[in-house]
Amino acid sequence: MNQTTSPVLPQGAGLGATLRRDLWWLGPAATAVGLLAFVIYSTWAALQGTNFWAGPYISPFYSPELFGDGPHAWFGPKPTWWPGALPFSPALLVLWAPGGFRLTCYYYRKAYYRSIWLDPVACAVGEARSSFRGENSFPLIWQNIHRYFMYLAVLFIAFLSYDAVRSYCWETHANGTPVAGGGHVFGMGLGSLVLTLNPLFLASYTFGCHSLRHLVGGKKDCFSCTASSRTRYQAWRFVSALNRHHQLWAWVSLFMVGFSDIYVRLVAAGTWPDIRFF
Ligand code: FES
Repeated sequence: MNQTTSPVLPQGAGLGATLRRDLWWLGPAATAVGLLAFVIYSTWAALQGTNFWAGPYISPFYSPELFGDGPHAWFGPKPTWWPGALPFSPALLVLWAPGGFRLTCYYYRKAYYRSIWLDPVACAVGEARSSFRGENSFPLIWQNIHRYFMYLAVLFIAFLSYDAVRSYCWETHANGTPVAGGGHVFGMGLGSLVLTLNPLFLASYTFGCHSLRHLVGGKKDCFSCTASSRTRYQAWRFVSALNRHHQLWAWVSLFMVGFSDIYVRLVAAGTWPDIRFF
């Protein structure tokens, strides 16, 4: 007679209880440190309202600068309708869009559910809660807004690509001061490279989005039936290739967008001299 035994799962009851002996906590801990460091820095940087542009460079946290005192502002200085009691920073007008996109990203959800909410913290590790309502009810049902943030995020790739091109357009100067009515010359500094890499990495993250993958390839029974289906198939393959490394691009682009702000900020403050190649 065959005897079957039930497998014993290495999971105990209560938060963190487990029979696992590996370093299961290392991944969630490192993720928490990385995410919290970015959130704290980006919040601080967004509230400064200063040192966010230097010559043709503008920090991606502040782009597009809709209103502001710098030369990058689209619609002039701080609007009169802005509540006087609130501190003004051009970043506050735009940063909610890429911030919301990241906050609701499928990868980041997994990352902060595990590392910050500890729910669940890791496989076969006990959690504090015994019930699970998922993302089908309030408040997490709001995560479904991600697909709409995706449209905005694609738009921001266009804005930041424009900033990258503009970072090669330097004002003509006479004795170190801009010439009145003067034009621009083609030039390149280290900041130009930084601001070029930034939208490239962000695009690699954005165009690997799960929602975008569904948009271009979902609800399709036949990829080879019509010309438009075949075009969608190629688009789906492209998005899928990036999607396979979505976690990597999420971190690379997060680091690069933070570094881009730091670079422009240090140049604007005079702390770090930009290296001008020509
Ligand atoms: Fe990560 Fe959409 S799922 S950006």
